[in-house]
Amino acid sequence: MDDTHISQRVRVVQTPIIPTINQLVSTHPGTISLGQGVSYYGPPAESYQAVEAHLTSSTLNAYGPVEGIPELIHSLQKKLNTRNNIAINDDQSIFVTAGSNMAFTSLMQVITDPNDEVILLTPYYFNHEMAIRLANAIPVLVPTQDNFHPDIDRIKQAITPRTRAIVTVSPNNPTGAVYTQEELTTINQLCARHNIFHINDEAYEDFVHGDNPHFSPASLTNSEAHTISLYSLSKAYGFAGWRVGYMVIPRAIFSSLRKVQDTVLISPPIVSQYAAIGAHQAPYQYIEEKIKAIKQSRSLCLDALNQTDLLAQPATSEGAFYIFARLNTHQNDFAIARALIEKHAVATIPGSAFAASNGQYLRISYGALTQQTVQQGINQLVSGLQCLLTQGTDDSTPATL
Ligand SMILES: Cc1ncc(COP(=O)(O)O)c(C=O)c1O
Repeated sequence: MDDTHISQRVRVVQTPIIPTINQLVSTHPGTISLGQGVSYYGPPAESYQAVEAHLTSSTLNAYGPVEGIPELIHSLQKKLNTRNNIAINDDQSIFVTAGSNMAFTSLMQVITDPNDEVILLTPYYFNHEMAIRLANAIPVLVPTQDNFHPDIDRIKQAITPRTRAIVTVSPNNPTGAVYTQEELTTINQLCARHNIFHINDEAYEDFVHGDNPHFSPASLTNSEAHTISLYSLSKAYGFAGWRVGYMVIPRAIFSSLRKVQDTVLISPPIVSQYAAIGAHQAPYQYIEEKIKAIKQSRSLCLDALNQTDLLAQPATSEGAFYIFARLNTHQNDFAIARALIEKHAVATIPGSAFAASNGQYLRISYGALTQQTVQQGINQLVSGLQCLLTQGTDDSTPATL
C-alpha cells in the first residue's frame, strides 16, 4: 500500500515538530534541549504512595467509569473550588481524560461538523490546530498583538455563522503571555453573545511570573453553559508520562463526550488516576518550590537574550516556561533551528511550527532542565545565534528540518 490510502483528513495534518526535533537531537549527542515543553521534575511522593496503596487492588486491572473514578472527580472538584474559584454546579461536569490533548481532540469531535470553524489565536499551540483538522473542521487563525495578547477587534471580525468556538491558551504556549481577567472576560462574553463555546486551555495555570494572575473564565457568573476549561497534570505535577488531564464542561455535552471517550479510551488508566489523587493531596508548596527554580531559569534566559542585539523586540515571559524570541533576521527559522542543533549543540523550536506570521521566531523552553544546564544552553544559544545571524546558516534547503 502507498500513501494514496491515507485519508485526506490526515494528510492535511502537519507533521509533529517535537519528534522531528528530538530525532535531530538524537543524531547530535550532547545537544542541550531548550525544545520540549516539559517540567524538569516528576510527581510528588504522595502520588507514588497512592499508587503503592492500590497496587494489589483488582480495581487497577479493570475498566473504570468512562468519565473518571469518583474519588478523583471529588478531589478535582475541591481543587477547582479553591484554586480556580470554580464552584461546580448542576449545569457542569468534570471529565477526566488521558491528558488534556485528548480532551481537546474529543471536544472537536463533539462540537464541530465538517467545515465548521474554530478560532485559534496565533501563534497557536500546534496540537490544537491538528485536532481541529482531524475533525474535518477549519482552524481560523487570528494573530495576536505584538505583545502576544489577544486582539479583540480581529477576533470579532473572524466570527462567522460557522464558528463553533474560540480557543484561548493562558498562560500561553508558545508565547508565555498571561491574558488579563479583562481580556478573558471580554472573549467569554463575546462567545456568550454569539452562542459559541469559549475553550480555555489552562495547562500552565500554576506557572505565572509577571503581573497578571491566572484567571479561569469558568469562574465568571453565568458562564457555565458555554465555557470549557482544560487542565493537565503534565506540567505542574511532572505527570507527562502518566497521562492525566481533565476538563470542566457544560453538562449539556457530557453524554456526547462519553460516546467519544468510550470509543477511543473506554476509561482513563486507573493507576494514573490514583497517582493524580495522590498529587492533589501533596501540599501546594510542592509546586511552588519547583516553580521558584523555574523562575530563576527564566531570569537567566531573559537576561542573556536581552543583553544582545539578536532580537527584534525584547524577550518576555509572563507565564508558562516559554520565551518566544523574535529574531533580528530575515533568515528562515527552520534553517536556524537546524543549524543551532547541528553546529551549536542547542535545540529550540522554530516559530513557524506555531504559525507565527510576522517575523522569524524561536520558542525557548526553560522548564525542562536544571538551572546549570539552562545556563549552559542559553550561552550556547546566544553564541550560536551571534554566529548564524552574522554569517548565515549556509543552508540551501531551509524550508524543512
Ligand atoms: C497548551 C497545552 N495544552 C495541552 C498540552 C498537553 O497536555 P497533556 O500532556 O495533558 O496532554 C500542552 C503540552 O505541551 C500544552 O502546551
